[in-house]
Amino acid sequence: MIVEIFEQIKINISGSKKQYSKRFFLFTLIFVFNFLNIYCYGFDYKQWWENWYSRGGNSGPGSVGILAQYKADVINDYIDKHKINSVVEFGCGDGVVLQLTKYKDYLGFDVSRTAIKLCTSKFKNDPTKSFFLYEPQFFVNKTIKSVDLVVCLDVLYHVIDEAEYLKVLEDIFSFSSKHIILYTSLNKSTIPYKNPEILHRDILPYLEKYKNYEIAIVPQKYKKLSGADFIFLTKKT
Ligand SMILES: C[S@@+](CC[C@H](N)C(=O)[O-])C[C@H]1O[C@@H](n2cnc3c(N)ncnc32)[C@H](O)[C@@H]1O
Repeated sequence: MIVEIFEQIKINISGSKKQYSKRFFLFTLIFVFNFLNIYCYGFDYKQWWENWYSRGGNSGPGSVGILAQYKADVINDYIDKHKINSVVEFGCGDGVVLQLTKYKDYLGFDVSRTAIKLCTSKFKNDPTKSFFLYEPQFFVNKTIKSVDLVVCLDVLYHVIDEAEYLKVLEDIFSFSSKHIILYTSLNKSTIPYKNPEILHRDILPYLEKYKNYEIAIVPQKYKKLSGADFIFLTKKT
């Protein structure tokens, strides 16, 4: 009997070891592939989104169900509280979250043509919403300074390219809006390169240069479902 149990334990241990090394091998392969993709071949995160949407993909798990409703609820409360009329969004996505918001006058940008097409068709009868294709490299805004709020939700940790990350922040702040709401990660990736389209950064050091804004953080309510927190920036008077 004791021998039988011992044999069973031996089988289990060697089985799990095999499983563990298989998983480790796969993980290493994905890590190396994504690392090469990002650093040697210049992973194109914008093309990734375009391919994703054009194959029928949606804006991801953070933009459906309970998380979509959570984002919309927080934003709608903020809009009511601060009497916000005009809103600009960087990364409007497929418009599912947008449908849940109470924006009165809205302008949405996205890097994906298909996302813009989806939103244009979804809101074709809504005269309060406009959509534009966004290309960070070619975006210049020096004149539109009358916007109440700029939002950017679940987008910044998808901007892989460092120079573009800086440019997107510049463009967000270029509207000089009284309010800015960012919904993104506050921590660096612990396992980088797991998904090539995701790169978590600590955003706070990047925001230090925008000294004329006060920052308030509201931590994620559903921590098991999302790593993004709300960052509210208010222009100092
Ligand atoms: C996870 S989805 C979020 C969509 C939407 N904000 C929401 O909360 O449902 C990310 C979106 O950001 C867009 N995106 C990625 N990089 C971007 C960038 N640099 N500027 C604007 N949008 C970007 C993608 O095309 C995609 O539609």
